[in-house]
Amino acid sequence: MAELVPATGAHLLQIQHESFAIWNDGLDFPQYGRFWEAQRRTAWGGSHLDRVALVEDGTVTSSAKRYDLSARVEGRIRRLLGIGAVFTSPSRRGRGGARRLLEAILEEAVTEGYEYAMLFSEIDTAFYEQLNFVPVPLLESRLVVEREGGAPAVLVRAGDDRDIPAIAEMSAKRAEGARLALDRTEDWIRYGIAKRRLHSGLGAAGLREVEFLVTEEGHQAVAYLVSTIYHGQWFLEEAGDRDPSGARLGAMLQVMLARTPHLDAPEIRAWLPQGFVPPQVTRTDEHATGGAMMIRPLRDRTLPLPPLDAHQVVYWRNDYF
Ligand SMILES: CC(C)(COP(=O)(O)OP(=O)(O)OC[C@H]1O[C@@H](n2cnc3c(N)ncnc32)[C@H](O)[C@@H]1OP(=O)(O)O)[C@@H](O)C(=O)NCCC(=O)NCCS
Repeated sequence: MAELVPATGAHLLQIQHESFAIWNDGLDFPQYGRFWEAQRRTAWGGSHLDRVALVEDGTVTSSAKRYDLSARVEGRIRRLLGIGAVFTSPSRRGRGGARRLLEAILEEAVTEGYEYAMLFSEIDTAFYEQLNFVPVPLLESRLVVEREGGAPAVLVRAGDDRDIPAIAEMSAKRAEGARLALDRTEDWIRYGIAKRRLHSGLGAAGLREVEFLVTEEGHQAVAYLVSTIYHGQWFLEEAGDRDPSGARLGAMLQVMLARTPHLDAPEIRAWLPQGFVPPQVTRTDEHATGGAMMIRPLRDRTLPLPPLDAHQVVYWRNDYF
């Protein structure tokens, strides 16, 4: 007998033991377990994130994480199920377990009223294409920041919880022009930042650093960024600017670089929306992101998305699941 159940207790422990080798991301085993628990304890995670297992004859065959999300698709907000960490117990691979798990998840999602499902494929996309997922182009690029003239005169401070509403507003504004963008609620934004900080805090000291910075005007955040530093490389995980030109974000990057004038500029990378290039920044070395984003409609009456161009999609790496 096969059933789809929440992955808890012994089932969860089995999944964590078996998946640790490929997804530990620099954490040791106890921290790997804590990282998941802590995400579930955030305001967003407690009500929008879970893990399900396909149990067959009393044993977990396959499992996955589910993210209860919304996206702006062609101008309308739609419920979207994010699927992550699809995993089959090594001794049971190649026998259709992952396929049965995904079919069960998708069927349940239809019943629950989801209109789209989305995932990031770490394997050849052909497997998910058989389940009617189509790839969405996403580009990663390198940002070269103009450093002449030293630090510009903008005040940059650490971001905090009171900045989140302004950040949600900036995200919604940026999403307006896109054909596909995540609907970034305040709790989702908090979850994304908390997840980065947890990952950094649970890992080895100094391995991953996270910065959440804002620049404000009239006591309100008008530009912000969340960046991580890993092995000397910076990643701009998400950012926003009320100024459509992005000039404040560019100035913030210049301020960050001016803190270490004696060092060579680090490599900075981002999944920057196509229309969002600060005047102080040149983007180079553009290539498809590592994990291919894929989406499919779930209901007959939901039209499949016509092919999308990368410039029609807004998706930050902090929203990767
Ligand atoms: C990918 C994975 C979930 C597939 O589970 P499974 O239960 O063996 O999958 P199914 O039996 O339903 O389907 C097998 C198909 O998966 C696809 N597949 C499995 N591993 C793959 C890989 N590394 N690259 C590309 N396709 C792969 C193939 O199309 C395969 O078909 P084949 O057996 O005819 O070659 C499993 O191999 C796994 O847990 N891998 C480690 C975790 C991982 O990479 N997960 C994917 C995250 S996106």
